This record gives sequence, structure tokens and C-alpha cells, in this order.
Amino acid sequence: MTPEPLRVLLLGGTGEALTLGQALEQEPGIAAVYSVAGVTRHPRLPQLPVRRGGFGGAVGLAAYLQQHGVHCLVDATHPFAAGISANAAAAARQTGTALLAVRRPAWQPGPDEQWHRVADMAAAAEALGPQSSRVLLTIGNQEVPAFCAAPHHRYWIRCLEQPAQTPPGAELLFQRGPFRYADECRLLRAHGIDTLVTKNAGGAATRSKLDAARDCGARIVMVERPPDPPEAEVATDVGHALAWLRSYLQGRW
Ligand SMILES: NC(=O)c1ccc[n+]([C@@H]2O[C@H](COP(=O)([O-])OP(=O)(O)OC[C@H]3O[C@@H](n4cnc5c(N)ncnc54)[C@H](OP(=O)(O)O)[C@@H]3O)[C@@H](O)[C@H]2O)c1
Repeated sequence: MTPEPLRVLLLGGTGEALTLGQALEQEPGIAAVYSVAGVTRHPRLPQLPVRRGGFGGAVGLAAYLQQHGVHCLVDATHPFAAGISANAAAAARQTGTALLAVRRPAWQPGPDEQWHRVADMAAAAEALGPQSSRVLLTIGNQEVPAFCAAPHHRYWIRCLEQPAQTPPGAELLFQRGPFRYADECRLLRAHGIDTLVTKNAGGAATRSKLDAARDCGARIVMVERPPDPPEAEVATDVGHALAWLRSYLQGRW
């Protein structure tokens, strides 16, 4: 008799989630469903069954886990997606589902880098100061409206979706990474950008902007990550996440 597969719900929204999802397409003994919030119009998806849209909070997610007999919940959402991660932790606790968080390590400043570290976007907008600056925002689209509180700066905003509100005169750059160091330097120099505001997302695909900012003399305002829920086991890359799932699968029988 074929043994029951390990049912996995993979919460996506990152490059790591996509890579893990692709690895699970052919993984023997594992039946995974890939879940996206549905906010990105053209998300990159693995060849797995996909569900879109919110669950309706922790209660809705717990109900989904129970209804679908999910054995493992893998939270491979963005390190700044604190709402879904808190819901995942609560739902896993409530239903006794194993929980793994996939989190790429945060960036650390190099010895020759000085970051202005802040806790949130309001603090980042404030940190820009009273003098007019030329600012590159690489923070996604959702939190751009926080910078309407500092309209005396000139903004270039890299995003995938149109923000709900932008500071006056802001220019939108619809660009998807990875970004090359030389292109980042060119962008900073072309617009005379003196300040980079970014979130400590971590990962190699977008690290080049930090090197470019340092080498072009732009200051870096770094919004630090919200804390992870304490109950999640953490894998720092896709290889570890896959190994965790395989060992979980082996340990079940
Ligand atoms: N925040 C960022 O900087 C960032 C950057 C890149 C990608 N993303 C991705 O974009 C998505 C939304 O980010 P966010 O910052 O809005 O997150 P959030 O504030 O933590 O989530 C808001 C709500 O969106 C729904 N949701 C989020 N991720 C989901 C998923 N994978 N599957 C189903 N529902 C999901 C949940 O709705 P319910 O409560 O109704 O279940 C959640 O409560 C995440 O999947 C995240 O990985 C975020």
C-alpha cells in the first residue's frame, strides 16, 4: 500500500519559497500546496497546486490546516511579513502542526559601512532630516505612504506595484531584482541620489545596492526586521528547509 504523503502547506511570497516549491514538485512522499497572498499581480509560481488570498487570520489558517490534514506548515514569507508569520505560529500551536520558518540571514554592515538603523518606516522618514535629500526607496510599495510625511525630499521609488500614495514629484521605477552592482551605481549617479532607504531583507539578489550606496557615498537608512515568533524552527536557506522536511518525513514512519 502506498503510504500517505506528508502534506505540506508552503506560505510563499519570496524567492526562497519559489525555489523550495520547485524542489518539492518532484519530491517523493511530499504533497505540497503553495499559498500566495494574492497581492502581486504576476507572482512567480512553482508547478504545485496553488491557493491565493488570505485565510482569514490565525483562526482561518488553523481551520485550513485541520480541513486539509496538513502535517507541516512552512512559513517562507518575507522577513517583514509579520502578520502572516504571527498567524502561522498561532495556527500551528493551536492545531499541533509542525512549523518551520525559512528566513534568509539579515544583512550586516561591513567594516567600512555605517548604517542609520531604524525600527519602522515612520522612523526612516524622520531620519531623512530637515535638509532636502535625493532618496532611493527600495521598500516595496505598501509602506511608501509613510514618506508623504517628509515631502521636502525628492524620491525615486523601486517597486513592483503602484503605491497607494506617493510623495509629490516621486518617480516610480518598476524593476524586479536581481540587480547588478554596476547598474545600481549607474542609477545612484544618474539621479544624484544621496540616500538609500531599505529594509533589512537579507539575501544576495538585492545586496548590491548596499555596496553601490557605500561606494557612491550615499548614506544608508536601514529599517530592521520585526522579531520572528519564538515557536518556529528556523531554516536559513532552502537546502536546510528541504532537509528538515525529509527528516520529518522519515521520522513519521
Ligand atoms: N512585507 C514585505 O516587505 C514583502 C516583500 C516581498 C514579498 N512579500 C510577500 O507578500 C505577502 C504579503 O506581505 P505583507 O507584508 O502584506 O504580509 P502580512 O502583513 O504579514 O500579511 C497580510 C495578510 O496577507 C495574507 N497573507 C500574507 N501572506 C500570505 C500567503 N503566503 N498566503 C496566504 N495569505 C497570505 C494574510 O491574510 P489573512 O490574515 O486573511 O490570512 C495576512 O494576514 C507575503 O506573502 C510576503 O511574503 C512581502
